[in-house]
Amino acid sequence: MSPSAYTSSITAILSSSLLLPSVLMIACLLFLYLAYRLALRAFSSSASAAAATAPARKLPLPPGSMGWPYIGETFQLYSNSNPNIFFALKQKRYGSIFKTHILGCPCVMVSSPEAARLVLVTRAHLFKPTFPASKECMLGPQAIFFQQGEYHARLRRLVLRAFMPDGIRGFVPNIESVALCALRSWDGRMVNTFQEMKTYALNVALLSIFGKDEISYMEELKQCYYTLEKGYNSMPINLPGTLFHKAMKARKQLGQIVAKIISSRREKKVGDAGGLLRSFMEAKEALTEEQISDNIIGVIFAARDTTASVLTWIVKFLGENPAVLQAVTEEQEEIMNSKVVDEEEKSLSWADTKRMPMTSRVIQETMRVASILSFTFREAVQDVELEGYLIPKGWKVMPLFRNIHHSPDNFPNPEKFDPSRFEVSPKPNTFMPFGNGSHSCPGNELAKLEMLVLLHHLTTKYRWSVSGLQSGIQFGPFALPLNGLPMTFSRKI
Ligand code: HEM
Ligand SMILES: *[C@@H]1O[C@H](CO)[C@@H](O)[C@H](O)[C@H]1NC(C)=O
Repeated sequence: MSPSAYTSSITAILSSSLLLPSVLMIACLLFLYLAYRLALRAFSSSASAAAATAPARKLPLPPGSMGWPYIGETFQLYSNSNPNIFFALKQKRYGSIFKTHILGCPCVMVSSPEAARLVLVTRAHLFKPTFPASKECMLGPQAIFFQQGEYHARLRRLVLRAFMPDGIRGFVPNIESVALCALRSWDGRMVNTFQEMKTYALNVALLSIFGKDEISYMEELKQCYYTLEKGYNSMPINLPGTLFHKAMKARKQLGQIVAKIISSRREKKVGDAGGLLRSFMEAKEALTEEQISDNIIGVIFAARDTTASVLTWIVKFLGENPAVLQAVTEEQEEIMNSKVVDEEEKSLSWADTKRMPMTSRVIQETMRVASILSFTFREAVQDVELEGYLIPKGWKVMPLFRNIHHSPDNFPNPEKFDPSRFEVSPKPNTFMPFGNGSHSCPGNELAKLEMLVLLHHLTTKYRWSVSGLQSGIQFGPFALPLNGLPMTFSRKI
């Protein structure tokens, strides 16, 4: 969603570029091309002088082509409307590290586990998170994705405290009620699977943020969030009437709602609702209200479409692989049967969700095949050497998760959906659906938990069929089955 700045939004930057009127593009292109030719002539002498003083510059740039000035290879990237085709072609042609140029930024794309480890983990201090300013002001400039150093570490501790197992295990029964309520509402009618999963993921995210007993303001908050979301992929023009303008207004309102919730909590001094807000409010070194609301909005954004996309893919893959669905259903039925006491089904517990190895492998394999966050973005803070090549200061660096997940070196027969491959743990830095290093996903335990809980009830109580559906992928900005996977779920008995 997609974050260094959150990955998703990165993809969103790219998709928003498509909205640029082509006229503007062409004008820009001509103008910039001319300017570029002039600049090239004017600066060619000074550039070679600079090269002599910086030893790192003796290293070659990675192979690859930069395309046209300014727009670079943006069109090639989008020409198939599937960015992954572009990545795969480039990798085939140039290898696991290559340069390109998209949306005005020179960038280096990397797709070996070693290079990804270097950028995200071992030399992460040389690569800072990066986002376009418009995305930053929409999500909140103080949100965790954009930070580095001490403030980032402090925020991250607070977020992890709320989302690590000890913070979320108490929510299992609540997540279960949200899941059951969602499933009941789908029963027997045609639904858009992705839309329904988004509603589920939003409700779980709000529960994990505001805790168990917050009910006031939730409808208002959701409405504001929907408005904000609509502006997210729009052109960043802040004039009355534009989606962007409405989104910025909605963001302000969201901040006010969060402030109201905070002050009512301070007054009531209520105890143990749990959740991220409590973790923020109990920070030793107090956060400002703005810091809190930027991060709450950011977490909703990071949690929602990501989890919903993965769940949608799981429904699809299970539908297409009856033997796998059968195995998952048997695993879940066994747990269900063990929960029935005096003909009543007891709530799931955290421990139950740890007895779902088959279902967990289906989640892993789905995240590998679908790789909904195809890549993330960083920016080199100085000239950096990578595998014998120079990455100049200021260039973007993109670890291509999807290429890593689809390389036959890491996963034999990579296009095949085969959960059994996860019976053996993948090698380090070959499977990174949640990223790695200091910006890796702090919500991964919650994401897995909410997927397991939903799948428990979905497989034991409902049937669905994907046969005869159109297959295909769309990007919005996450990879998603075509049209959000329209589907009918019906109760088994
Ligand atoms: C299956 C669902 C999810 C996937 C695939 C996913 C994936 C990721 C990835 C790959 C990153 C790292 C991006 C980078 O390094 O640039 C990330 C960061 C993040 N995710 Fe998730 N995520 C998911 C669900 C969630 C949930 C449920 C939450 C919150 C409850 C969450 C909160 C965050 C936050 C706050 C960050 C930024 C961390 C930082 O910058 O320090 N995510 N996510
Ligand atoms: C993250 O990187 C570390 C260090 O290379 C590695 O030990 C770990 O397995 C990596 N995590 C993943 C999910 O690959």
